[in-house]
Amino acid sequence: MAQRFEYDFLVIGSGVAGLTFALAVADRGSVAIITKKERAESNTNYAQGGIAGVLGEEDSFQDHIEDTLRAGAGLCNREIVEITVREGPGRIRHLIELGAAFSKKNGVLHLGLEGGHSISRIVHAQDATGREIERALLEAIHTHPSIDVFEFHYAVDLITEHHLGQFVNRRRPDVHCFGAYVYDEQADAVHTFLARVTMLASGGSSAVYLHTTNPRIATGDGVAMAYRAKARIANMEFVQFHPTSLYLSDGQGIGAPNDSASFLISEAVRGHGARLYTQSGHRFMPDYDPRAELAPRDIVARAIDDQLKRRGEEYVLLDISHASATEIEEHFPFIRRTCMKCGFDITKEPVPVVPAAHYQCGGVQTDRHARTSVGGLFASGEVACTGLHGANRLASNSLLEALVFSKRAVEPALDLAACRRWNRSVPDWDATGTESPHEWVLVSHNRDELRRVMWNYVGIVRSGPRLKRALRRTKLLYEEVEEFYNRTSISSGLCELRNMIAVAYLIIRSAQMRRESRGLHYMADYPEAVESEKRPSLI
Ligand code: FAD
Ligand code: SIN
Repeated sequence: MAQRFEYDFLVIGSGVAGLTFALAVADRGSVAIITKKERAESNTNYAQGGIAGVLGEEDSFQDHIEDTLRAGAGLCNREIVEITVREGPGRIRHLIELGAAFSKKNGVLHLGLEGGHSISRIVHAQDATGREIERALLEAIHTHPSIDVFEFHYAVDLITEHHLGQFVNRRRPDVHCFGAYVYDEQADAVHTFLARVTMLASGGSSAVYLHTTNPRIATGDGVAMAYRAKARIANMEFVQFHPTSLYLSDGQGIGAPNDSASFLISEAVRGHGARLYTQSGHRFMPDYDPRAELAPRDIVARAIDDQLKRRGEEYVLLDISHASATEIEEHFPFIRRTCMKCGFDITKEPVPVVPAAHYQCGGVQTDRHARTSVGGLFASGEVACTGLHGANRLASNSLLEALVFSKRAVEPALDLAACRRWNRSVPDWDATGTESPHEWVLVSHNRDELRRVMWNYVGIVRSGPRLKRALRRTKLLYEEVEEFYNRTSISSGLCELRNMIAVAYLIIRSAQMRRESRGLHYMADYPEAVESEKRPSLI
């Protein structure tokens, strides 16, 4: 049975961004966190390497700022980079106060090194940092009396003037968010959640690619919902492919978030001295960049892709066996155990690796306080495009960004909540004319097809003809799925597919608009960066 709820703050997502915001506002109002699976299931929970932050004596804000700008290939917003880097250490200390236990050496935080960083500055909990962050935040949430967590609740759409029967388009300056329609899986009903302030913290979209390090939840729902609500979306062409996910010829999924994902081998392993080789034993990274294995991710992923294509091989090798078994166990126990399960002893031999889609650098455009272009709607974490990452995210800057901007949203969100009322004229969800589907298999076929199209034509190396082909295929999928959606009763699987198609469209269109190669966006037919294209792409 459908219900109506009223909360001061509605938070969509229970990863680091959502939980951080929820905790920070909960003393001043009621909070609903809705999350589509179990509360811990999020990209956050799988983060390995850690959080970048200037905490070492030899480090400086200036160096972290410069490293971030360099990785971002000319598209970072300098003001946002400075804010993030300067406010980052305070946010990390706050996590420690909340109980997050990060790795230490001789009583002080151990700082790891990752690609693109000029110094060791990654705070981590061995090689399972995200799990520790998620644990600490969920524990704090659990004991807070003003926070209700709704698991297996799926946000279908943000509520705006459109749902009041008004005409809304992207040119209208005064669109507002009044909450969200939320599908409750257990009750099989769509509830209306009214909120004074809505925080979109629904994570990224890398599951639109066939090979990804992300869990199944990463279907880009937030970007798709915000797009439908007419929010501004930026930089979607910049999809980050992580260079090193474990290659398994059969049985992807061992140790990974789910059976269709690839297990990540953290960049910290390269930071610890691991090297990349071809199958015939050639160490190839120095041929591409003087920083070799520690070059930023776009460069390493493209170099691997190039080697695989030249040689017609399916994987390259990552070798850390020069380090002692004790050292490997101390720093990478989770990775060592997982590789062992797959038959590779990383203390003795190299492991096969391939790149996989990992991170969405673009998203819902936000300002320095996480405000979107839609009134009452904030966004933080991977769903947002703050301007920090530009054309390529520096390793371990993502958890940092979520911590900083979920905190920066608090003041304006409290101010807004204090003067805004619930819009009680919002109607209930209208499900007339829909029926239960008979052809469920079509949803999974379409999902597979879309992920293949994205992997084959919108991957590490793109070109005009490939993007055109991808757009044609995606349009066809869009038509089929819209037709199915309009006559079918709601389900999260179908909504996810619809959102994945919307996100694929945004990635392809943004990629087509950028007639140059920059950062993560490499176009075979425009191989150079072009000065006049040096601006964010906006949809
Ligand atoms: P998430 O943590 O993904 O949380 C999103 C939440 O939204 C989930 O709870 C999800 O269920 C919910 N949700 C989504 N859609 C809906 C919907 N429609 N309705 C209701 N709920 C919804 N970054 C780093 O900085 N350092 C690292 O070491 C690092 N390692 C990584 C390793 C892996 C394997 C992966 C996959 C990512 C890694 N990243 C790392 C990236 C980083 O983990 C993510 O960018 C970050 O955790 C995103 O946090 P978030 O809160 O924005 O989203
Ligand atoms: C990793 O551990 O390699 C992931 C780090 C990140 O995505 O920032």
